[in-house]
Amino acid sequence: MSAFRKLGAAARRDPSVVTRRIDPLPAGAEEPLAILHGACFPDDPWESGALARLIALTGSFGWLAWEGRAPVGFVLVRDLGNECEILSLGVLPRWRRLGIAQDLLRAVIAEARGRSLPSLVLEVATDNDAAGALYAALGFAPVGRRPRYYRRPDGRADALILRLALESAPAAR
Ligand SMILES: CC(C)(COP(=O)(O)OP(=O)(O)OC[C@H]1O[C@@H](n2cnc3c(N)ncnc32)[C@H](O)[C@@H]1OP(=O)(O)O)[C@@H](O)C(=O)NCCC(=O)NCCS
Repeated sequence: MSAFRKLGAAARRDPSVVTRRIDPLPAGAEEPLAILHGACFPDDPWESGALARLIALTGSFGWLAWEGRAPVGFVLVRDLGNECEILSLGVLPRWRRLGIAQDLLRAVIAEARGRSLPSLVLEVATDNDAAGALYAALGFAPVGRRPRYYRRPDGRADALILRLALESAPAAR
């Protein structure tokens, strides 16, 4: 059996063996994005129509992370002219802690650098420990706070505004 076929056979037994791809959003991405977004943000899913309108905005771009034939993660971004805003990012629960979000963010960083944008900015809920750790590991730093920004079943959570200055981004090394 060739090495390639062996990899395919192993991948069928263990999907984590499949080579990961990070690809730009294809045409019609709003449908898989809506499924991914709903699985990642069950309390605030974005519908495919809203996602299609968002993707169509000037400066919008993004990537899907694939494992084999399955999209398992996404990032949506907007070029604001003077910086790059990460609008949404998610990885399906069973594929987390495998470095997929980091790979997606590295794609964003490379693209932002290619566009000569000096920084990335995003909002993250103060109670989102996973995302907070992810962004801190990449060097994002807090630059602001929006009190009671996110609705929660038991009240509200603040949003932290985080910024990454691209000159110092570790992922770019
Ligand atoms: C946040 C999220 C995108 C992370 O995706 P992921 O693919 O699991 O992240 P990665 O595997 O790339 O993690 C990279 C690093 O981030 C940190 N991290 C990620 N998830 C973490 C967790 N649950 N707890 C602690 N640290 C975490 C770790 O430092 C991790 O490195 P390590 O695994 O070597 O320790 C994912 O948990 C998710 O989709 N959550 C729901 C949607 C969401 O909150 N999106 C962000 C909104 S701002």
